[in-house]
Amino acid sequence: MKKKVVVLTGAGISAESGIKTFRDSDGLWEEYRIEDVATYDAWLRNPALVLDFYNKRRMQLATVVPNPAHHALVKLEQKYEVKIVTQNVDDLHERAGSSSILHLHGELTKVRSTANPELVTDIGYSEIKQGDKCALGSQLRPHIVWFGEAVPLIEDAAEITMQADILLVIGTSLAVYPAAGLVNYVPAHCRIFLVDPGDLQVRWINNLEFVREKAGTGVPAIVGRLLSEDDNN
Ligand code: APR
Repeated sequence: MKKKVVVLTGAGISAESGIKTFRDSDGLWEEYRIEDVATYDAWLRNPALVLDFYNKRRMQLATVVPNPAHHALVKLEQKYEVKIVTQNVDDLHERAGSSSILHLHGELTKVRSTANPELVTDIGYSEIKQGDKCALGSQLRPHIVWFGEAVPLIEDAAEITMQADILLVIGTSLAVYPAAGLVNYVPAHCRIFLVDPGDLQVRWINNLEFVREKAGTGVPAIVGRLLSEDDNN
């Protein structure tokens, strides 16, 4: 049976594709205030600004491509059962070709009804405008989990993480819960690799190998190692 690798990704894996992270010094939360564009209150107060913020993200997403880190994770499937749990709302794991991807914080290329959250449709890279309606006649909103909103897939993500033989954590500041808490769900035997060039404080994680590198080089290197390990490791 193939060993199970669970991959928790954050904005850092897409940084080298040209997508800004949130909390780095040139990150999105330096340019915008979370409470203006990424909360339900912001949506009620100024939907035009919120739509504009996500329209810009979606438009930019159309211009970028997956990088060697996304591609390496696809290669890892040659020998492992790989499940990706991503906090990212981009579609770069999909475009690289990974086969199992759970989006904890939603997806830029989807919209949903404000009347029924189950009514989710693809929008690709186009804009949502005020007045754009779902089939029930209510305004469409970005299919994004905003701050303060529930994270509907967190239990699924926790169940996936509980099965991990190996956990790869890539490009996340682990600052946002409940996503950051997923690392606590791994079983005791699980090996953990963390790939991030930043200065994360992670003393509380056991069995950890911290690779202080950018994802574009660090992830292919770890994938190469895992693919060359013999099956008894
Ligand atoms: N390769 C790997 N990691 C990188 C790279 C890179 N090239 N460049 C930056 N990083 C790292 C940073 O050091 C940082 O630890 O990526 C991390 C990005 O952290 P955040 O900006 O906080 O992004 P993330 O952890 O994904 O944020 C979580 O916060 O705003 C919300 O909903 C949003 O899903 C997002 C959540």
